[in-house]
Amino acid sequence: MRFFVTSAIALALGQGANAAFGLTSTSSRYIVDTDGGLVFEVNRSNGDITSLKYNGVEYQGTGKASAINSGLGTSTVTGETVNGYIKITVKASGSKVPVTQYYVAKPKEATIYMATYITGEVDPGELRWLARLKTSELPTGVHGDVGSTRGCEAFEGKDTFKCSNGQTRCKMYTSDRFIDDKVHCVSGSKAAVCMVMPGTAYETSASGPFMRDINSQTGDSDQELYWYMNSGHVRTEPWRLGLMGPYAMTFTSPNTKPSENLDTSFFGSLSIQNYVAANGRGSVSGTASGVPSGYETVVHWYNKNNQYWTKATNGAYTSPPMRPGTYNIKLYKDEFLVANDTITVTAGQTAQKDIASKEPNTPVIWRIGDFDGQPFELKNGDKIERMHPSDVRMASWGGSYTVGTSKASDFPMALWSKQGGTATVTFTLTQDQVKGHVLRIGTTLSFKGGRPSVKINSWTGSDPGAPVLIDSRGITRGAYRGWGDVYNWSVPSSAFKVGSNTLTVGVYGSGDATWLSANYIVDALELQD
Ligand SMILES: *[C@@H]1O[C@H](CO)[C@@H](O)[C@H](O)[C@H]1NC(C)=O
Ligand SMILES: *[C@@H]1O[C@H](CO)[C@@H](O)[C@H](O)[C@H]1NC(C)=O
Ligand SMILES: *[C@@H]1O[C@H](CO)[C@@H](O)[C@H](O)[C@H]1NC(C)=O
Repeated sequence: MRFFVTSAIALALGQGANAAFGLTSTSSRYIVDTDGGLVFEVNRSNGDITSLKYNGVEYQGTGKASAINSGLGTSTVTGETVNGYIKITVKASGSKVPVTQYYVAKPKEATIYMATYITGEVDPGELRWLARLKTSELPTGVHGDVGSTRGCEAFEGKDTFKCSNGQTRCKMYTSDRFIDDKVHCVSGSKAAVCMVMPGTAYETSASGPFMRDINSQTGDSDQELYWYMNSGHVRTEPWRLGLMGPYAMTFTSPNTKPSENLDTSFFGSLSIQNYVAANGRGSVSGTASGVPSGYETVVHWYNKNNQYWTKATNGAYTSPPMRPGTYNIKLYKDEFLVANDTITVTAGQTAQKDIASKEPNTPVIWRIGDFDGQPFELKNGDKIERMHPSDVRMASWGGSYTVGTSKASDFPMALWSKQGGTATVTFTLTQDQVKGHVLRIGTTLSFKGGRPSVKINSWTGSDPGAPVLIDSRGITRGAYRGWGDVYNWSVPSSAFKVGSNTLTVGVYGSGDATWLSANYIVDALELQD
């Protein structure tokens, strides 16, 4: 059943008070009353959201509308009631890459369910939902004030700010790993507004489970709430096309997080382009073994069309419901790749696949940090996701590490070619240990070709050559995850001596003498026995 509800007396009905669940319209707007406290309006010429009233309070900002990217421009906008849901379809036309945006309302819920269908990447190479809300009503951003530019001045790019107290701010500092980011909210005294990415919402996003992207930015007038579907922010994969989501923006009480297990299966009855319901999907299950306790075991499936992931528990896993196809599988110890494989998924079936870590258990003379694909245990690693390396709260860069007495947090989580210090490791060898050893350094992200230079006493290791470039600012915008290149050197016995030895770690690469000189982020380093 499908019918249109249009009303000439829409203004009287739709302007504010919760009348009843329903869709009304004027020549310029659709007005949706969810009967759950939320009434929203959609511009009929471009699909912009121009009003978001929750419990009678207007949350939509006054400058620009809420929309995909910065608005889709001239579009064909249709509103209808389908199977008891209100569905608004925005088909962007004109010079834009074709984009179809769906807004769906379900009775009694203060939620706008959405999905975004693309057949080509949207100019300028990123796709995001952007709600421009009122800072006055919703002053607290995702992760508090890390993305608040209020009273601060841009000092790197146009997006990274320094405040008078020496603290730094950037919208990138609000990001969380896609695998963890199922709900994120901005909030105020009367409400919280949250993005919810349930189930397989990320199946057409890019760059895998550890990709992080902007979640909010707080300005003087607008609190910007985002869901980034893809971007060029430390992108490690081509964009995927097709249907993004379903996802949702939901209004709730302050300090309340909506459930991440939002049921969007009703999209199956709404004629949504490229939507694949559960019965058109298959899955994979099996064991994922060999990752030591204390680390997350992450299983990741991907091909050029789709991506999925899950965390194994007690060595067993079941994938999310996947679209049929052949997938690459990666197994991670936290974020460190330890095995890979392939699997074919068929609709209606559960494929079996056991996968085991291939990480060798090589004995070492010493190891600093963990080979887990994350720099958090090293110096400043606890802060790097949320602030700039020059932030006043950062410990001084560079460092000296003495094997036996130092902590991992004495070794810097990043090194730069033109500033930021060098790192030294002092260690003692016995006569028996003076022989050839492999020195191994794991990195998580590199910028402008930065890679380790190493020197032990008077021996200098060869330049491993620049890694594949990721053309994006990284560490200065809180990113730590890239290719995860691991380097090793066969160090001859003549490099070593009995007693105290010193390893000096630096950076090959160039660039200005700023935080944008060549750099890399350290995962861990070890001298193998
Ligand atoms: C709707 O969009 C059109 C085209 O951009 C604009 O002229 C009009 O003012 C908008 N209406 C509202 C209510 O924002
Ligand atoms: C991943 O697969 C490639 C190609 O089959 C192989 O060379 C590589 O060793 C694998 N990596 C791991 C960590 O298993
Ligand atoms: C690095 O380690 C691998 C595997 O342990 C080894 O095959 C390779 O020769 C090493 N490379 C260097 C330059 O020592």
